[in-house]
Amino acid sequence: MKIATALANSNIAIIKYWGNSNDELIIPSNNSISFTMDDKLQTKTTVILDEEFTIDELWINDQKATAKETERVASIIELVRIKAKSKLKAKIFSENSFPKGAGLASSASSFAALSGATCKAYSLGLNKKELSKIARMGSGSASRSIFGGAVEWIKGIRKDGEDCYAQEIAPKEKFKELRNIVAILERKEKKIGSREGMKITTSTSKNFENRLIEVEKRLKIAREAILDFDFEKLAPVIMEDSDSMHKVMKESNPSLIYMNDISHKIRKEIIELNKSSEKYLGAYTFDAGPNAHIYTLSKNTSKIKSILNEIEGVQEIIECGIGDGIRFSDSHLM
Ligand code: DP6
Repeated sequence: MKIATALANSNIAIIKYWGNSNDELIIPSNNSISFTMDDKLQTKTTVILDEEFTIDELWINDQKATAKETERVASIIELVRIKAKSKLKAKIFSENSFPKGAGLASSASSFAALSGATCKAYSLGLNKKELSKIARMGSGSASRSIFGGAVEWIKGIRKDGEDCYAQEIAPKEKFKELRNIVAILERKEKKIGSREGMKITTSTSKNFENRLIEVEKRLKIAREAILDFDFEKLAPVIMEDSDSMHKVMKESNPSLIYMNDISHKIRKEIIELNKSSEKYLGAYTFDAGPNAHIYTLSKNTSKIKSILNEIEGVQEIIECGIGDGIRFSDSHLM
């Protein structure tokens, strides 16, 4: 028997990934940048291999996974099995530190932890760059969760995706003051998943190519603002990119609407707060769902939380700092 356990955290993009140039190899149309969250949004995954196992099996938070969940995970296991030239089947146990179905992006932390634990169990001695390439096949954003701090996922130029991987821009220690205040508005699973939504947008949205041009400019500003850690410079770029992604989503056919009325109310409140303060106190960003993520500095968290608390429909508020990339543990789940 072989056993390995890995831990990985979720990440929230400030320059978003939305669209692939190659849907099979998950090669994104643009580079994306995120911050990896602290252990409040964490997945722990144990992979066990044994000659007696005849199929790959998956448990999430002590419950047997659905066929759909198992299939997506098994495809990553198979990829690693081929690389390791092994025939061993796996039992996988996965646990999130946050409730499943909280509408929080668990695919990034889940596929990052899965990739790490699987590669270790099959004794593939891979570095983080190579791990990020495997993680991206499970979930594009998972490639970024392999690293901590500020991370960029590079699209590369090769057709085979071999130069498409994530890398650290700056370590978490640089962002001790940075916070992400998460406002949970809905706990339902999204109707149209990211992979499907991206395909719809790239093939139908008339402003998608425009977005790619704008993204290049924002990437440059974001990298500079990260290296100097300049929140005043970073905040407008974060909000512009979220708006730009939701614009191309909305003008897709069928139209993809992920934000709800409460999300829009939060967006407006943050714009007004920044205007009245004549400073950027918060920067909103929304993924493929209604939940709001407000990046802010630690000195402004109580102000942001009090605004969110006043808004009807905000079910829960979680405050995250910036955290670590993948790590391994000897305390296994079974
Ligand atoms: C809007 O890579 O998480 O969060 O393949 O469905 O797991 P799946 O998609 P994923 O897409 C992330 C899209 C996003 C933006 C981002 O995180 O960059």
